[in-house]
Amino acid sequence: MAPRKLAAGNWKMNGTLASLAEVDRLLADHPQPGCDLLICPPATLIHAMAAKGIATGGQDCHANASGAHTGDIAAAQLRDAGASHVILGHSERRTDHGETDDQVRAKAIAAHEAGLVAVICLGETEAQRDADQTLDVIAGQLAASVPDCATAANTVVAYEPVWAIGTGRTPTNDQIAEVHALMRDRLAARFADGADVSLLYGGSVKPGNAAEIFAIPHVDGALVGGASLKAGDFGPIVAALAASGG
Ligand code: PGA
Repeated sequence: MAPRKLAAGNWKMNGTLASLAEVDRLLADHPQPGCDLLICPPATLIHAMAAKGIATGGQDCHANASGAHTGDIAAAQLRDAGASHVILGHSERRTDHGETDDQVRAKAIAAHEAGLVAVICLGETEAQRDADQTLDVIAGQLAASVPDCATAANTVVAYEPVWAIGTGRTPTNDQIAEVHALMRDRLAARFADGADVSLLYGGSVKPGNAAEIFAIPHVDGALVGGASLKAGDFGPIVAALAASGG
């Protein structure tokens, strides 16, 4: 098995029921997308999104299965609403909510127990890159955020440099290649099917840079924020992934 190609949209805290028209447009333009397609809308839209027959993900889940956690969502509840995936450890969660690698790992275990695919995000800050710490940071986050129960079927890993998210800036192709090679090596060394785990790049992926990014070794797809909100932007990214050779 080779890693599956995945185009994943992260709508973050954007979108209402009216936004689902964009999904109708996307599916009309790409009835057979040629790669796996996933949209992670706000929790309020998961049920309606999943009802359209598109793979749907949450953007976070609690590590516990249920209980007194006002405002949180359990993995099984995401699944019950129609989700198949959940993004975990996004840098906005790590920054806004102080999430640690240990918490991300606990959430990933909860996601797996509920039958969800965990899309686990890693990424260095600009200060860490400037201090030449990127590979150490990514290796550390990978080791601590990805649980021992991870398989190629239940886990996707996304490299999202914090400084590239929503900024219009992207790493060089060599910088992306270096990090993806490291993630592939570490996963392959640790897990029997680590060579088959899909590895996504995320951070200012746009129609104009998608094909170039998808040509980088060990980039199996993208986690797309801003450009996933409009079918006219996300569609060409999906098409570029489907057309990519790797
Ligand atoms: P961006 O966000 O595509 O808007 O940079 C990516 C992400 O945060 O997943």
